[in-house]
Amino acid sequence: MNEKELINQAFEAQKKSIAKYSGFKVGAALETEDGKIYHGANIENAAYSVTVCAERTAMFTALLNGERKFKRIAIVSDSSNITAPCGACRQVLNEFCEEDFEVIMANKNGDFIVKTLGELLPFGFKGEDLE
Ligand code: THU
Repeated sequence: MNEKELINQAFEAQKKSIAKYSGFKVGAALETEDGKIYHGANIENAAYSVTVCAERTAMFTALLNGERKFKRIAIVSDSSNITAPCGACRQVLNEFCEEDFEVIMANKNGDFIVKTLGELLPFGFKGEDLE
């Protein structure tokens, strides 16, 4: 699957978004090392702070399906700006992905940039730091 196809998967995932408060629908498509795709979409709550982002619903779905090795993720929204993962999602990705994990950030037209997780979260805190 090329980057455009993964972005299209993220647009499919975006249709599942439950964003009744912000109206900002985000979709994510997470690819495992062996090429499986997991969809994620943001799920909002009247208690705003317990809202969960698209990136995390994708990751948690994959984890609950037994996946542990991840290659990349595509993230989309209806914005003309590219959609970058929030700090909390970067930390969750950092728990389960390597530094070379690719984050494909697209805008509503499918224009995108790619950064590694190491670029997005340098010096991230990991389990091995708990000594
Ligand atoms: N959101 C995501 O799902 N992922 C991001 O990368 C940025 C923000 C969601 C959270 C909330 O439901 C809405 O977008 C507005 O912040």
